[in-house]
Amino acid sequence: MNTDKDIVKIFDTTLRDGEQSPGASMNTEEKIQIAKQLEKLGVDIIEAGFAAASPGDFEAISRISNIVEKSRVCSLARAVEKDIKAAGEAVSAAKLKRIHTFIATSPIHMEYKLRMSPDEVIRRAVDAVKYAKTFVDDVEFSCEDAGRSEMGFLKEIISAVIEAGAGTINIPDTVGYRLPHEMGEMIKELSGFIGEKAVISVHCHNDLGLAVANSLYSVLNGARQVECTINGLGERAGNAALEEIVMAIKTRKDIFKDIDTNINTKEIYPASRLVATITGIEPQPNKAIVGKNAFAHESGIHQDGVLKHKETYEIMRAEDIGLDTNAIVLGKHSGRHAFKEKIKALGFDLNEDELNKAFERFKMLADKKKEIVDDDIRMLVTSEITSVPETFKLVRLQISDCSEGVPSAAVTIEHEGEQKTDAGIGDGTIDAIFKTIDRISGYNGTLNDYKVEAVSKGKDALAKVVVKVVFDQTKPAVIGHGLSIDTMIASAKAYVNALNSYLSMKEVLKTKERPQENI
Ligand code: KIV
Ligand code: ZN
Repeated sequence: MNTDKDIVKIFDTTLRDGEQSPGASMNTEEKIQIAKQLEKLGVDIIEAGFAAASPGDFEAISRISNIVEKSRVCSLARAVEKDIKAAGEAVSAAKLKRIHTFIATSPIHMEYKLRMSPDEVIRRAVDAVKYAKTFVDDVEFSCEDAGRSEMGFLKEIISAVIEAGAGTINIPDTVGYRLPHEMGEMIKELSGFIGEKAVISVHCHNDLGLAVANSLYSVLNGARQVECTINGLGERAGNAALEEIVMAIKTRKDIFKDIDTNINTKEIYPASRLVATITGIEPQPNKAIVGKNAFAHESGIHQDGVLKHKETYEIMRAEDIGLDTNAIVLGKHSGRHAFKEKIKALGFDLNEDELNKAFERFKMLADKKKEIVDDDIRMLVTSEITSVPETFKLVRLQISDCSEGVPSAAVTIEHEGEQKTDAGIGDGTIDAIFKTIDRISGYNGTLNDYKVEAVSKGKDALAKVVVKVVFDQTKPAVIGHGLSIDTMIASAKAYVNALNSYLSMKEVLKTKERPQENI
């Protein structure tokens, strides 16, 4: 922890606002792995979910509260008693805890969404903060849609909630409406108004592609907490990307001077890969900092310049974000020791059992693939540590000659110690495989999304398949991952993994909608 600097707290909301990205829902094990990585990254506050939204969110926040020690664990809560109670109970085991409560403050939200008068909104906010203080010392209050709220009203409600005990005041640009200079002016005025009475936080959405710029202008004008997500995940166009904010502050010391964060930037790339692997949402290749091309120099002139003197075209070093461009490649002859060292270098902390299982999978892969690069290993290990109980296990898959006749698949699956084999046809091979798995398992999945990607280069690259499947129309889709040299096997594994994930979370899966009622 940096003490003699002017620290901007990093509040990560990947597990809450990030999870609101379409298709980004995660199971509890996956959330726990991300929370552990966020702690390693050095984020000050982890918003682990919205406890009242579903039993699944509640469970994930409670388990994270029991595991994370260095970062503060936070739950979101609307300004209503039942939400605050759930949030307080969910974070109760955390060493450092916070409740984050919010209510909308813009005229349009108060009139049409809340149907409340401004006075009623202030009363609700004050009651919420006071009630939250009965569970935790550290309470954050957000003026939802502050970006479109009136300054006079913001000052009124902020004074009231600080008086009630809020220690952090968050100013969200909920709909991503503000321009950077406007955001800066708003924060400057509020900063003068609030003074030392509370920390000012910002939470910027990216609807106009300005979330990071708006966050940075806010920091320059007095905000000392920034809410952001890994890879910029989040509702609609997403939230401000953590990696971009942190690297801008680090790289432009001439502008940010003594301002710093507690982030260990070498953990940025591992965090980005983990989140992309788990959610199946890859950052665009040209995404700043963590995109595949962010440190790649394609043009000859650039390459020549970089070879002569790196700083000619590079303002940051790949190593600073934990991307090792000279990484040792493993292969068939690499032993357990080399594998263990590589796992350590990639930042994974595996117990003996996990290490053995990951090594077994590595050996199987090395038999088929000549060079195993870091991304292959990241993928293998992530699928090992986030695995759910294998209620159903794919044992064998045989597909028909795809060039002729009706596509068909024969599948063998193990369930409760027994192997069952069946065969079926479909409109295509994937359809045949998934339909056959449905018949054997007795579950009927609706495929909402299917993605396949090569983990690395080469014809022998590992195929990563991510599927999104709905097994119960009253519940949200679950995500399944499958990895194999063979795309069809990876697809079958991904589908079975989605089914296992659904079965492990069935009881706690949130109903399709988050709380919708006006408060
Ligand atoms: O965007 C927003 O306003 C939010 C609040 C709940 C902080 O996510
Ligand atoms: Zn938000």
